[in-house]
Amino acid sequence: MTIPLPIEPDRLLIRTFEAADVDPMTAVYGDPQVMRHVCIGVLDREGTAALLEKYGRAQDEHGFSTWAVVEKASGTVVGDVGFGLYEPTGEPELGYTLAAAVWGRGYALEAVRACVAAAFAHLPYDRLVAKVESGNARSLRLAARLGMHPVETIDVDGRPHMLLAVERS
Ligand SMILES: CC(C)(COP(=O)(O)OP(=O)(O)OC[C@H]1O[C@@H](n2cnc3c(N)ncnc32)[C@H](O)[C@@H]1OP(=O)(O)O)[C@@H](O)C(=O)NCCC(=O)NCCS
Repeated sequence: MTIPLPIEPDRLLIRTFEAADVDPMTAVYGDPQVMRHVCIGVLDREGTAALLEKYGRAQDEHGFSTWAVVEKASGTVVGDVGFGLYEPTGEPELGYTLAAAVWGRGYALEAVRACVAAAFAHLPYDRLVAKVESGNARSLRLAARLGMHPVETIDVDGRPHMLLAVERS
């Protein structure tokens, strides 16, 4: 039960994180604008390195994880995309975080569509979920473009989130 990597949509390459990704990802996770609606909050270099190591362990354990998003044109790591586990149900939970400099290009839609297709092709789950803070307009627009539908409002660390889902078609 493993999602084969890399995943290669048109303009992006999605692969596991490498040691050299700590610097570009510190720039992403260290940006308060990017992390405003993300539960873990702003991270420094040490926190970023620990998170990428955790993603590596999750990959070994589950056969999927949160991965690096590389912009093919520049060869630059511009963010993350992939799946954690939604604890209440054990289903894959979609996540995505891109550097603010590349918002508004359709990269997130491209990356997430490819990951959702790969998950349904290679994992036995019939539903994928995502939790999005109610004020995260960009993320809610992305989820709607993906065809995700609202399930219920949930509390995450005292902040209201929408639980969204997409089913195997
Ligand atoms: C959530 C996030 C990934 C969305 O990024 P995004 O760039 O807005 O999303 P998309 O890739 O879907 O891009 C959509 C925009 O690109 C535009 N666009 C430009 N070229 C495009 C193309 N070739 N294809 C599709 N859309 C394109 C769309 O018109 C749309 O514009 P709009 O924002 O004015 O509606 C990003 O805002 C982010 O990283 N936020 C911080 C982290 C976060 O909150 N993560 C989610 C936690 S739940």
